[in-house]
Amino acid sequence: MQATLPARLYGDPEAWARERGEVFARTWLFLGHEAELAAAGDWIATDVAGHRLIAVRGEDGLIRAFHNVCRHRAGPLVTGAAGSCGRELVCAYHGWRYALDGRLRAATGFGAAEGFDPRALGLLGLAVATWRGLVFAAIDPAAPLALSVAPIDALLVARGLDLALPALRRDHALDCDWKVYVENYLEGYHIDAVHPALAADLGGSDYRVRVEGDCVIQEAVGAAGSTQAGVWGWLWPNLGINVYADGAMIERMTPVGPGRTRLDYLYLGVDGRPPSDETLATSDRLTAEDAAICKAVQANLSAGAYDRGLLSPRHEIAVAWFQDRLGDIHR
Ligand code: FES
Ligand SMILES: [Fe+2]
Repeated sequence: MQATLPARLYGDPEAWARERGEVFARTWLFLGHEAELAAAGDWIATDVAGHRLIAVRGEDGLIRAFHNVCRHRAGPLVTGAAGSCGRELVCAYHGWRYALDGRLRAATGFGAAEGFDPRALGLLGLAVATWRGLVFAAIDPAAPLALSVAPIDALLVARGLDLALPALRRDHALDCDWKVYVENYLEGYHIDAVHPALAADLGGSDYRVRVEGDCVIQEAVGAAGSTQAGVWGWLWPNLGINVYADGAMIERMTPVGPGRTRLDYLYLGVDGRPPSDETLATSDRLTAEDAAICKAVQANLSAGAYDRGLLSPRHEIAVAWFQDRLGDIHR
């Protein structure tokens, strides 16, 4: 039986710094859907574990991603979650202008300076990959060999499911470490106690969890008449890919700081149709139920009485796998 990670790793600044560098800087990070970048100059931006990132469609039609930081004195190129910048990204601080491919076009009003070479001052670029319309970026281009979504892709093919078009973004602040929420997501063990309505809806189904490569797959099999059964895919280190017959919800569990997390939801719908009020209300209720239990768990992890617990070999194999991977960097 596997013991859990020690409580001190949840909300700890040192653990946070290590996870920022050794997890989030070394893997693919989900940014958004390519349909949100329909035209040249369209951009989306976000922060993940303190990495501030932007993706923009170039005049050549390619999507590129950069750190959202100007090479002059670290001003932001864009502010907000999405927009259009026309043909250039212009720094909000002193107005340096960058082409959509990241080259510095003009160090506006900088003045003559010896040794100043604008060609050496392009935006700091990231690797980009897309899968079924979803756009990912990687900070260390050498680290991730491939976007390892094959197990989820194969399952969507087997179930005849597709990813629809982006319809709605929503976010929810969580008072817990990102690991608390991810671990909660990676097991169905808590469904009966925390989500009674969902448990009733899934009644009689066989809840299965399995780990394949960098992915975890959860399914409720045989839930006759269930409205909420689907395929819950998850990609290391922080992305839920929840696919239902009538839409999907991409759920990034975004670390914001030690002990603070934000859920970034992107709902997908057929032809970009937003989810129904009923679907949204159900989603909000489930999120509120998980947020409340995760907040209470975080408070207990921080309180000092508890250090390590145990993981169920029947229900918590994906939690054990996740903690093993993190344990390797916290050793
Ligand atoms: S920081 Fe960007 S122009 Fe000064
Ligand atoms: Fe839950």
